[in-house]
Amino acid sequence: MSKIAIVYGSSTGAAEAVAEKVKDALGGAKVFNADGLDVNDLKPFDFLVFGTSTTGVGDLQDDWEILLPKIEKLDFSGKKVALFGLGDSASFSTSFASGMYHIYKALKGKAEIIGSVSTDGYTYDESDSVVDGRFVGLALDEDNEYDQTDARIEAWVEDLKKKIA
Ligand SMILES: Cc1cc2nc3c(=O)[nH]c(=O)nc-3n(C[C@H](O)[C@H](O)[C@H](O)COP(=O)(O)O)c2cc1C
Repeated sequence: MSKIAIVYGSSTGAAEAVAEKVKDALGGAKVFNADGLDVNDLKPFDFLVFGTSTTGVGDLQDDWEILLPKIEKLDFSGKKVALFGLGDSASFSTSFASGMYHIYKALKGKAEIIGSVSTDGYTYDESDSVVDGRFVGLALDEDNEYDQTDARIEAWVEDLKKKIA
């Protein structure tokens, strides 16, 4: 069984609530706030779930902006990483859930990133987080599509469980 850590960056609590739901779906994990996290605390974990909301226009959440340069320096050998990203597909349709792309870009080639998601069922115009036709992680819209969040998490976590078994 993998030792799982979830790190969330959240400005108004939505990504924090999602982190708790992902923890429950996984059947347990240690949850960390990106704000003030000591990256050394992540060393014992072999599966890392990184979640962020999107701010500005397609930008990474503020606490993640500070954390990411430190995370990039970690040794990811033997570790798997999965990403989730929150956004507002109605108000920010051309930068939907783009925040998680910044984490993907920083860790691509350094860590094994799992858990890409089909864009089917999402309504948006553009997202940096779509690479080769798929979201690089789980995209969620708590502003407009909150009624789909639980099912999206459940399907994603089922997929993740197969990949970390
Ligand atoms: C100032 C601001 C800028 C935002 N920019 C984007 C954006 O570019 N793309 C997007 O999809 N959502 C954007 N959002 C929506 C948030 O990412 C979304 O509401 C999210 O659920 C907030 O999560 P949090 O409370 O964990 O920070 C923005 C929200 C705010 C307040």
